[in-house]
Amino acid sequence: MPTTIAFDVYGTLIDTHGIVLELEKLVGEQAQHFSQTWRDKQLEYSFRRGLMQNYVDFSVVTRQALDYACLACQQGLTSAEREHLLEQYRTLPAFSDAKQALEQLKAQNHRLFAFSNGRGEAVTELLQAAGLDAYFQDIISVDELKSFKPNPAVYCHFLRRAQTNSETAWLVSSNPFDVLGAMSAGMRAAWVKRSGTAIFDPWGIEPNLTISSLVELEQTLNA
Ligand code: 2OP
Repeated sequence: MPTTIAFDVYGTLIDTHGIVLELEKLVGEQAQHFSQTWRDKQLEYSFRRGLMQNYVDFSVVTRQALDYACLACQQGLTSAEREHLLEQYRTLPAFSDAKQALEQLKAQNHRLFAFSNGRGEAVTELLQAAGLDAYFQDIISVDELKSFKPNPAVYCHFLRRAQTNSETAWLVSSNPFDVLGAMSAGMRAAWVKRSGTAIFDPWGIEPNLTISSLVELEQTLNA
């Protein structure tokens, strides 16, 4: 039976650490640490802005998190270097399992949506650059609600926009906070645990499904 699936974008379909190669040219061996600091701060800023009800476009969150990472890593990057990194961030690479998984699921007539903190235009550009845009019925952004994940309202917004309900829709995400957010809002959720060392928050709640690769989804949903 066709299922409605909300795919998280940054960190699930698209590799936010795909920026490391560019970072290496600018910050050398600090690149991995810099990238992690940037991503962690980006998420923290989105959570805080959600709580503060002080919404800004996710690209602003990303820019401010980059500025923080420069301070934390004591890297005085020029504004041209920062602009260059932000430009690269708009066309980050897909994870290697994404294309095959989406192809399989679309062939099975599942209803696929990209569901992201990113604005619609930014997510469209990202998915186009990664060659993934053709698989989705639509892109649903938190920007339509001016809040961020894991506000339960954004998951309800997804269900409304996708014209489905929490009993039949799945969220698929590598981000544990997103999985917990969707489950807390009543959706079913699959956690993509690509690394053996990834940790799911010990809140006494398990994901409805844990997979190590997106290509496992098709088999599981059709089982
Ligand atoms: C996304 O919404 C959580 O950054 C992740 O795409």
